[in-house]
Amino acid sequence: APTLRDVADDNDIRIGAAAAADPIREDFQYRDALREYNAVTAENAMKIGPLRPDEHTYDFEDGDLIAEFAREHDMYFRGHTLVWHNQLPEWLVPFQYTDRELRRLLEDHVRTVAGRYAGDVDTWDVVNEAVADDGGLRETPWLRAFGEEYLDKAFGWAHQSAPEADLFYNDYGADGINDKSDEIYELVSGMLDRGVPIDGVGLQLHALHDPVDPDSVAENIERFKDLGLAVEITEMDVAYTAEDPPEDHLTVQADYYREIVEKANEAGCDTIVAWGVSDQHSWIPHFDDTLTEDPLLLDDSYDRKPAYDAIVDLL
Ligand code: XIL
Repeated sequence: APTLRDVADDNDIRIGAAAAADPIREDFQYRDALREYNAVTAENAMKIGPLRPDEHTYDFEDGDLIAEFAREHDMYFRGHTLVWHNQLPEWLVPFQYTDRELRRLLEDHVRTVAGRYAGDVDTWDVVNEAVADDGGLRETPWLRAFGEEYLDKAFGWAHQSAPEADLFYNDYGADGINDKSDEIYELVSGMLDRGVPIDGVGLQLHALHDPVDPDSVAENIERFKDLGLAVEITEMDVAYTAEDPPEDHLTVQADYYREIVEKANEAGCDTIVAWGVSDQHSWIPHFDDTLTEDPLLLDDSYDRKPAYDAIVDLL
């Protein structure tokens, strides 16, 4: 049977997975499984915490390894993420830094990391999760140090350091039409008006408990496309309430994956990345133990799940 990669390549679609460096090093089955996708995102390796063991050191070993794997296997490579409030290094205790120090630190970080992977990373999630769930910009060290300008600035630095890369704003809970995606729509419209070099919006699509209506996702994609932006689904997983999952939830999950790939693609989204290579590597059991533990396309033993087959059949 064809792999996801075969059908995705044939259809000019990208179906990807988030990946980590250690299992690429250690597990040949993981490497084989990762090659069944034609796109890859560094799940953690390019975040500021993992990259910066101390203030003056960058440790690019894991990021370089994933970049090399992507290059060798001709995969679309998503860099994730230059500016975020989470997974900060332990030494970076915001109140111990002045605003001016934080501004220097972030600029140096964005320029250094985007520059390091210029030519490797096709698309960067430049800023991740900057919008608060209850509206407005989230209170983060970066907002404190710069004010609202930090987004514009980060995109500008990234563009200077990696002029070929596409630059995205990425967030969760804004997959369909809702207040949060309205807010992001306003945010990126403003950036475009100001001439900020933003190329697209990433919808994480962690479909947890009660998956969002695919028609609403399609409508949301269309409105961002109408602004001239690209849209990608960047961190997809599908998990149900473990106590009361739908009957035959792997079939329901497969239908959901298929419907998202179909409708998102019709709406003009050509890239869908699952947040892990197989269920064995999913972050979901660590994140929320009330969820079913099989959110991805390959099972714990790297065997194809109904969701995998559904996408192959669709394409
Ligand atoms: C998660 C990783 O999957 C975990 O391994 C890590 O412990 C925490 O971060 N939104 C994002 C991703 O943008 O970076 C997060 O990834 C999941 C939620």
